[in-house]
Amino acid sequence: MNPTVVSFIYLVAGVLFILGIKGLTKPKTAVRGNKLSALGMLIAVIVTLLDGDVVNYNFIIAGVLVGSGIGAVMALKIQMTSMPQMVALLNGFGGGASLTIALAEYFSKLGSAPESFSEILTPVVATSSNFGSGPEGTIALVSIGLTVLIGALTLTGSLVAFAKLQELMKKSYGLPGGPIGNGIFLVASAVAVVCLVLNPGNTAAMVAIVGLALLLGLFLVMPIGGADMPVVIALLNSYSGIAAALAGFILGNTVLIVAGSLVGTSGLILTQIMCVAMNRSLTNVLFGKMAAGGEVIDADEIYAGKVTSAQPDEVAMMLEMAKRVVIVPGYGMAMAQAQHAVRELADSMEAKGVEVEYGIHPVAGRMPGHMNVLLAEAEVPYDKLVEMERINPTFEDTDVVIVIGANDVTNPMARESEGSPIYGMPILNVDKAKNVVVIKRSLSPGFAGLPNPLFAMDHTVMVYGDGKKAVVEMTTALNQA
Ligand code: TAP
Repeated sequence: MNPTVVSFIYLVAGVLFILGIKGLTKPKTAVRGNKLSALGMLIAVIVTLLDGDVVNYNFIIAGVLVGSGIGAVMALKIQMTSMPQMVALLNGFGGGASLTIALAEYFSKLGSAPESFSEILTPVVATSSNFGSGPEGTIALVSIGLTVLIGALTLTGSLVAFAKLQELMKKSYGLPGGPIGNGIFLVASAVAVVCLVLNPGNTAAMVAIVGLALLLGLFLVMPIGGADMPVVIALLNSYSGIAAALAGFILGNTVLIVAGSLVGTSGLILTQIMCVAMNRSLTNVLFGKMAAGGEVIDADEIYAGKVTSAQPDEVAMMLEMAKRVVIVPGYGMAMAQAQHAVRELADSMEAKGVEVEYGIHPVAGRMPGHMNVLLAEAEVPYDKLVEMERINPTFEDTDVVIVIGANDVTNPMARESEGSPIYGMPILNVDKAKNVVVIKRSLSPGFAGLPNPLFAMDHTVMVYGDGKKAVVEMTTALNQA
C-alpha cells in the first residue's frame, strides 16, 4: 500500500481513539466512545495486515480466532463485580504482547532464532547496525530493552493484581528491605539494558532483563493490599500503554505509538485522580500502609454512649416528611448488592414528592466509577448521580442523607483531625445535613481502619444490618405509610 495512504488511515484511527476516550469521560456518551475506539482499532488492524509486511497469515488467523473466542466468552461471562480482575488480566496480556514483540524483533535482527536455552546465552557478534543505520539502530535497541523491561514487569505485576482481586492470594509478601530491595532490582535491570545497548550481541544481558523485570513485577505488587489494587491497576494499565508505544517505535508503526501513548497517559492521569481523591501519594500507595485507626484515635472514646440506632420503619417516617433526600453509597452497597433495592426506595420517595439525588465520591467503593456502574445497572438516571463538588454545597438544605455502606468517604476527621491518616482527603460533607441515617452492619471501620465521628453525632441514627435488607424494609414501611 502507498505509505501516504497508510499514514492517513492511521491518522484517522488515531483521531477515532481520541474521540473514543473523550466519549468515555461521560456515562451518556461512554458506549458510543467505546464503539468509536473499537472502530479505530479495527481500521488500524486491517490496514496493518494489508500493508504487505505479513509473510504468513496462518498464525494470524489462528490467533484472531482463538483470541476472539476467549475474549468473547470472558466478556459475556464476567460479573460486573469482577471487572477489576478482568482489566488486570488484560493489562498483563498487553504487557506480555509487547514483551514478545520486542524479543522476536531482537532475535530476528541478530540473525537466526536460537533453538535452545544454551544457544540463547551464547553471545553473538552484533552491533547497533543490525537494528538500523546510525542513531536509528541505537534508538531501536533502547526501545527493545525498555519494552522488554516494562512489558515483563507489567505482565507479572498484573497477574499478581489479578490473583489478589480474585482472592487467590490473600497474604502480602515482599522483598526484604521493601522499596530498597525493589530499587536494587530496578537499577540492576536498567544496568542490563545499558549493557545490551552497548553490546547488542550480549544475549545474556537480554535474558537478565527478562528475568529481573519478571521478578520486579512480582515484588512490586505482592506487598500491596487488595483494596489498593485499583490504583495499582491504573498504573499497570499505563505501563502496558508505554510498552505498546515503545513496541511501536521498534516496529516503526505510528498507530501503535499513538494508541500506546494514549493508554499510557490516560492511565497515569487516572492514577493521579485516584491518589488525589484519597489524599495519598503514589509512593504511599505503592510502598506504605494506611495507619490503623486504633493507634491514632480510640473508637470507644468517640462512640461510647453517644450512638443512637433506629429501625427501618422509624427511618421511613422521617423520609415521608422530607422534601429532599440524598443517598450516599459506598463499598457496603456493592457488598450487599443493594443497588436495585436503593433505586426502588428512591422511586417510592419520589412517588411521595420527595426530591432524591445520589452523592458520589470519586473513590467510593473499590474501583474507579464503582458506584456509577452499580447504579447504572439498577437503571438510576445518570443526571441523579451528582459528583462530590456539586453535591457538597447542597447538604445544608438536605433533610435526610442516607449513607449506605459508606464510611471513610463521609468521615469528618478528614476535614477536622490534623493528625488523622485521612486528614486532607476530600469527603462528602453529609454531617452538614439536617438528619443522617447510616446503614451498616456494625460500628466497624472501613478501608482506612478509622472510627467515624459521624456515627456519634446528635443528628445521626444508625440502622444496623445488611444494606439490602435494611433498604427493602424501609421501602416496605414507606409504601405502607
Ligand atoms: P469503606 O470506608 O471501606 O466502608 C465500607 C463500609 O461498608 C464498612 O464500614 C462496612 O461496615 C460496610 N459494609 C460492608 N458490607 C456491608 C453490607 N453487606 N451491608 C451494609 N454495609 C456493609 O468504603 P467507602 O466509604 O466506599 O470508601 C472507600 C475506601 O476505599 C476509601 O478509604 C478509599 O480511599 C478506598 N479505596 C478506594 C479505591 C477506589 S478507586 N474506589 C481504591 C483504593 C482505595 P460494616 O462492616 O459495619 O457493615
